Amino acid sequence: MIKRLVLGVLACLAISTTFADEGMWLPSLIKERIKEMRKMGFKLKAEDIYSADKASFKDAVVQFGGGCTGEFVSEQGLLLTNHHCGYGSIQKLSSVEHDYLTYGYWAKSMDEELPVPGLTVSLLVAMEDVTERLAAGEKREDIIAAASKGEGYRASIESIYYGNQQILYVYQTFRDVRLVGAPPSSIGKFGGDTDNWIWPRHTGDFSIFRVYADSNNQPADYSKENVPYRPKRHFKISTKGVQEGDFTMIYGFPGNTQEYVISDAVDYVANMSNPMKIELRTQRLETISEAQAKDPAVRIAYAAKHASIANGWKKWQGESLGLERLHTIDKKQSYEADFAAWAADKPQYASLLDSMRAAYKNVTPGYFMRELFNESIGAIEAYSFARGILTAYKMTNIDNIVDYRKRVLKDYNINIDRTIARQMIAEFLKRMPKEQIPEALTTGIKVCGSIKDYVDSLYNNTKILGTETMVYEELPSDPMIQFAKMFTPIVSSNSRYTYRNISNVPAIEKWYRTYMQALREWDSERAFYPDANFTLRVAYGTICGYENADGEYHTPLTTLDGIIAKDNPEIYDYDIPQELRDIYKNKDYGRWSINKNGKRTVPVCFLASNHTSGGNSGSPVINGKGELVGINFDRTWRSTMSDIEFDPTICRNISVDIRYVLFVVDRIGHAEYLLKEVGVK
Ligand code: ARG
Ligand code: GLU
Repeated sequence: MIKRLVLGVLACLAISTTFADEGMWLPSLIKERIKEMRKMGFKLKAEDIYSADKASFKDAVVQFGGGCTGEFVSEQGLLLTNHHCGYGSIQKLSSVEHDYLTYGYWAKSMDEELPVPGLTVSLLVAMEDVTERLAAGEKREDIIAAASKGEGYRASIESIYYGNQQILYVYQTFRDVRLVGAPPSSIGKFGGDTDNWIWPRHTGDFSIFRVYADSNNQPADYSKENVPYRPKRHFKISTKGVQEGDFTMIYGFPGNTQEYVISDAVDYVANMSNPMKIELRTQRLETISEAQAKDPAVRIAYAAKHASIANGWKKWQGESLGLERLHTIDKKQSYEADFAAWAADKPQYASLLDSMRAAYKNVTPGYFMRELFNESIGAIEAYSFARGILTAYKMTNIDNIVDYRKRVLKDYNINIDRTIARQMIAEFLKRMPKEQIPEALTTGIKVCGSIKDYVDSLYNNTKILGTETMVYEELPSDPMIQFAKMFTPIVSSNSRYTYRNISNVPAIEKWYRTYMQALREWDSERAFYPDANFTLRVAYGTICGYENADGEYHTPLTTLDGIIAKDNPEIYDYDIPQELRDIYKNKDYGRWSINKNGKRTVPVCFLASNHTSGGNSGSPVINGKGELVGINFDRTWRSTMSDIEFDPTICRNISVDIRYVLFVVDRIGHAEYLLKEVGVK
């Protein structure tokens, strides 16, 4: 046992130093990586991962909803993703009588699967590098229009390497997607925001859906007549489990990385953007948490909002610490100095870095103001609602606005929002350059005497936040609408800066096009992969622990024993279902039992060294034989800087072990028919 463990650790560390775990590769180019993947333990061929004409794993991976990944696990369109990805859908289907968020949901047959209005799932049908076609004069719109023919087809051209290459993606979108199963939040969200981004982890972060299609296996609106979609390919599940050192591959839709940016961009993130966002969100979170602690109804109403505000807040703190620990700015500066020395006698590159630095200087104030505005005034719920009305007002009628109000006010607490409005207006006034502050705001505050009184007058006199009838004609003079209107000039000038990252603002990005070409010439040994942009990517690595602090090694596998150790009925995030306690007490694990250090337990989560990012939530984790062994859902806090610099010694993604998923389906959900469907019983 001990010998085996030591071997495992050595194997995983040895591998991570010899091979690069860094990288999110284009599936269509995975053949360039396959040799290395096979050395690390992958047993299949590149065509199994991606093939332009044969069924491959790419046909088993989907983009789930707006920003997550999911995977097919049966020939009947059964789909796995994370609980936090299904959260909005589960919430939508829940009511006081049927609280699926709290208690979970298990369809006992296909008839009980619940359609989720608005939920879609997209499959990648084809991808093609169209750089040359565009260069040859073909029009973007024509290429897109030609590729979009087909039921539910949607095409887009995404640029990679800052516009150096253009890739056409064709998707087929399915719009009849039904909820099949979800664990109670006490399993699916176990550990809540406290454990979020943290290892050791014990979250059963999964939910189960099914995609439906018409009788021709094509996308269709919801209908009773629809039948389960038959995917070209689905993942076979392995219940053999994983060991430290094992190969793993992640196939999914990572959203946003910026690995090639120069030090100026890192400086912006670490020293301007992150600190501002963290400070403002700290205040909002304190306000929300305080109200939640006083009232259980508020805790529920603000659970999702709290989770999403806290998610970025915590991630950015980890990212800033990571960038500091890695000395990313210093390292980039010396890399740039070496580059500049090489470029000095090349006219096309000699002044490139200077041009880039000048562009950052020009763009930074505007880009920062946009971020500041979004995190301050934009974070006031009543403001966003009023802005929404302003947009809707021009083209629609009061009924739509009344409907909109119902949705906004469903989980709204005016006292929380009022406090946040005071805090955020104060921050806006403090941080925004004087000339950017609307005069009407300054005057309003002056007339009322203080920010507090000004905010009170807004909230006490507006008619959009209560139950009173809204009169269409009166909306323009409503105080909250007036408040929102003050910021219209800022909002429209901000639109010039609405890009994924500061480096994607055209005035900067244009230089990166040349810079990337130069890097490929100069740093020719480097393995380049395009930054994440919500398109399908492959990452590979190994099951691997890491040294969290000097002398403190974090092993990569957690178990039910860790859940029981955290279990505490007094703490909402750690209060597990009684059923799980009973199962533990009776050691009633059945086929899900494993032996850890001589004790029987159940596997829960594992770590691996795959390069992942936001959007990879729900991604399949695949073993060397191409079988599904887990579902990705997070990274460790100390590895969140991997969106800018990936450090193989410490960057780890966190997945839920598929055996824990099956254990919960079996023992908590009692949904045996699903086990049969995925071929494990
Ligand atoms: N950190 C993960 C991700 O970035 C999970 C977020 C959801 N969970 C939570 N407790 N907020 O999406
Ligand atoms: N939880 C993240 C998600 O949505 C994945 C974690 C990460 O950022 O690595 O997409």
